[in-house]
Amino acid sequence: MPEPKNLKILKPEHLMETMQAFRVALGVRCDFCHVQGDFASDEKPHKEMARKMIAMSHEINAKFDDGKMHVTCYTCHRGAEEPATRPAEAPHAEHEPHP
Ligand code: HEC
Ligand code: HEC
Repeated sequence: MPEPKNLKILKPEHLMETMQAFRVALGVRCDFCHVQGDFASDEKPHKEMARKMIAMSHEINAKFDDGKMHVTCYTCHRGAEEPATRPAEAPHAEHEPHP
């Protein structure tokens, strides 16, 4: 992997671990955010959106007093491109536990 040339937020250290984490958190492949064969390109809007999300996650974590990373991409996304804002449809009655 050549030296990164277009990092605006992240540090080159552990970049690939972070990228793998993004991939898993959103349940996507690298090319969801990246132009095939040109990782430095900002052509894909999802990459710019991801930068905003990184900044948002930093802001949220800064509100905790202990300086730890409590909220990650996975916290909201749970393997989905778009996080759910409400629970899935309630299960059918026959699957519900009896009191
Ligand atoms: C959810 C979107 C997203 C996914 C998925 C993703 N990336 Fe990234 N990637 C980014 C963002 C955003 C940056 C730029 C970060 C910055 O500006 O600090 C980046 C930067 C990079 C860079 C540095 C490029 C340069 O020259 O500046 C490489 C290399 C890279 N990603 C590889 C990968 C690989 C390999 C995968 C799959 C395992 C992957 N990325 C998956 C969003 C993503
Ligand atoms: C606090 C919750 C939250 C966190 C944390 C979060 N996201 Fe998101 N993300 C969302 C929501 C909500 C949306 C959908 C926004 C919309 O509908 O326009 C979204 C949308 C996105 C999209 C656009 C997806 C699409 O299909 O267009 C990308 C890319 C993304 N997030 C990347 C990330 C990455 C990378 C991280 C971690 C650095 C992250 N998100 C952390 C809530 C979050």
